[in-house]
Amino acid sequence: MMKSTESNIKILFEPKSIAIIGASQHKGKIGYKILENIVAGGYKGKIYPINPKGGEILGIKAYKAMEDVPGDVDVATIVVPAEFVYPALKGCAAKKTKFLSIITSGFSEIGNVEEEKKIVSFARENGMRILGPNIFGFFSAGVSLNATFGPKEVKKGGVAIITQSGALGVAMIGKTAVENIGLSAIISVGNKSDLDETDLLRYLINHEETKVIMMYIEGIKDGARLVGILKEATAKKPVIVVKSGRSKRGAIAAASHTGSLAGSDEIFDAIMKQCNVQRAENIKDALEWCKFLSNSPVPTAENAIIITNGGGIGVLATDACEKYGIKLYDDYEALKKTFAPVMPYFGSAKNPIDLTGQAESSHYSLAFTTSLKNKNISSLISLYCETAVFDIQNFEPLIEETYKKYKAAGKPIVFCLVGGEKVEECVKSLRRRDVPAFNDPYEAVSCLGALYSYANYHGESSETIDKPKLDVKSIEEVIKKVRAENRSFLLSNEGQAVVKAAGMPVPQSYIARNIKEAADYAQKIGYPLVMKIVSKDILHKSDVGGVALDLQNKNEVIEAYEAIINNCRTHNPAATIDGVEVSEMVPHGTELIIGARRDPSFGPIVMFGLGGIYVEVMKDVSFRAIPVGRREILSMIKQIRSYPLLLGVRGEAQKDIESVIDSIIKVSGIIESCPAITDIEINPLVVYEKGVKAVDARILISHLK
Ligand code: COA
Repeated sequence: MMKSTESNIKILFEPKSIAIIGASQHKGKIGYKILENIVAGGYKGKIYPINPKGGEILGIKAYKAMEDVPGDVDVATIVVPAEFVYPALKGCAAKKTKFLSIITSGFSEIGNVEEEKKIVSFARENGMRILGPNIFGFFSAGVSLNATFGPKEVKKGGVAIITQSGALGVAMIGKTAVENIGLSAIISVGNKSDLDETDLLRYLINHEETKVIMMYIEGIKDGARLVGILKEATAKKPVIVVKSGRSKRGAIAAASHTGSLAGSDEIFDAIMKQCNVQRAENIKDALEWCKFLSNSPVPTAENAIIITNGGGIGVLATDACEKYGIKLYDDYEALKKTFAPVMPYFGSAKNPIDLTGQAESSHYSLAFTTSLKNKNISSLISLYCETAVFDIQNFEPLIEETYKKYKAAGKPIVFCLVGGEKVEECVKSLRRRDVPAFNDPYEAVSCLGALYSYANYHGESSETIDKPKLDVKSIEEVIKKVRAENRSFLLSNEGQAVVKAAGMPVPQSYIARNIKEAADYAQKIGYPLVMKIVSKDILHKSDVGGVALDLQNKNEVIEAYEAIINNCRTHNPAATIDGVEVSEMVPHGTELIIGARRDPSFGPIVMFGLGGIYVEVMKDVSFRAIPVGRREILSMIKQIRSYPLLLGVRGEAQKDIESVIDSIIKVSGIIESCPAITDIEINPLVVYEKGVKAVDARILISHLK
């Protein structure tokens, strides 16, 4: 069943009538081009050009004002200069228009924010939704509506494109036509003053004609909402994203381009993986993936095979398989049994299956049929290097027929043919008929890789996410005290109280106000011990001699107490000193770091890594958006390069990964349940064979909520 916004957006994609406010007789104007495209596209609904001069445009009656149009109008495309957009809305409201597609530039993207806000609020008050402004319009194949000023010819098919960049969007319409990629829709969101990619995605999830969704994103305004919809979308169909602003310079350009901020690229990347979104580096790859994924069956298992007539190209494809995460079938005995009867005796049945340079199309044919029949082979990469002995004229029909058979059997297949003019012609001709043929092994393999990457997650049941049990009241009390003292950071004992309230094991510790108390606490805890100054005026405790480690007896505790107080007084005589923390010195284990913060684009996110050099030098960390379930957390832990250290190296036992997962859930829970906390970092969290200990927690709060 359709949700209400979804059923409303259906009107945008399938309007019964469309007005073009600013339609013009002048061929050079955008208002002419849009009308021309609507007419040429074959739209069957009612078309109402609006122009103060009236008359006829392209043989269609033009109305002097919206108010003159008979009956209601579902969609109005507005293509008049910026200062005339707001006045035009009255007429749209009078005609009960549901959607406005505002082509006009000159609003928030150049700082004209107020005018844009005025338009949005008038539209909201009158039940109208806005696409844009600053867009090239939209195309909807279902009703043959090309309400864009892009190319006239748009091939219909199964790919829907949502783009933030208008110019790139127009270019993509042209490019898809050249590449023979069929579109179900292409929509530009421009300034996203009202409708954004999330609204459109929500509709496209259940849009039957759309098999694959591609998004070009520059910046994200409400990432947390987008994440939820992306997860829903990829459970049904592949979503491919190209996001510009990867480089720091690119991010600045993107930010100034559309007035929205590009989030940190690492976080974006991690969150796209979490949502099973395939991220392409460039438009070319994205379009290739779209075409392939919209035409190809989803593989049901791993075990791909490569069939080749050349060793070199086979190795290149093998490298590409590793890069794109494709697992090759490597049971040599089984492969030999399968392929030995169908290949030249001097060929090789090791995957890549090398039919040798002497192979003819008949050898390929046998190998294709054998692989198709073999249940253990889930997909095929067919490679061909031009040779003089090869009968290319027979190969093209064989490839096309094979592709169809594989598709019908639910097995993906890609073809790569490298060679001269005849070979290039063959590739072009196959591509025109939607056969996945390429002239570079990396391109072919990258398409299959994107499909596998999608398929590996697809079908996994969505996770139920456990909410950790937190003592929120105790945490709020700590925050209240910190706020009362007008601080935005928590002292280490306060941080410890917060993580303890989340149920995380912390070292036993007490705050001693004098030497006697220090000695008594030391006795209570037992040795070895750690002592640290507790003062809001001394943040870098070690630098000023405010920390003593590995204290073994009472005398050392007394000496350390005196030394810490003296050092800190000397460093900052005015500092308010609350006391000295006496803590259990935790045994040696593997040091981890768990952090969580509120990302400006995606809301709460959690980070995981190994402590020390792994985080500081190697930046070996992984991110996920919160909420996150156990399975996803495990993938986050496995994602870091230093993961094998947790499994135990050099005879060490495996670490307690389940307790690490619990800790990540608890840290996520703290930031989710306490809106005042903006940043939390447990560093180190020491993990043992059994259990963990949160040694130090740095927490920041905001005074806004
Ligand atoms: N109702 C209906 N028509 C109106 C009107 C109104 N209230 N006010 C003006 N018009 C008519 C004009 O008379 C003109 O028709 P004409 O050619 O018959 O005289 C037509 O609307 C267009 O107005 P004009 O002043 O000629 O503007 P323009 O065509 O030069 O430019 C835009 C209008 C919207 C294209 C321009 O302002 C703009 O924003 N361009 C950038 C678009 C863009 O790049 N968008 C992002 C893409 S990614």
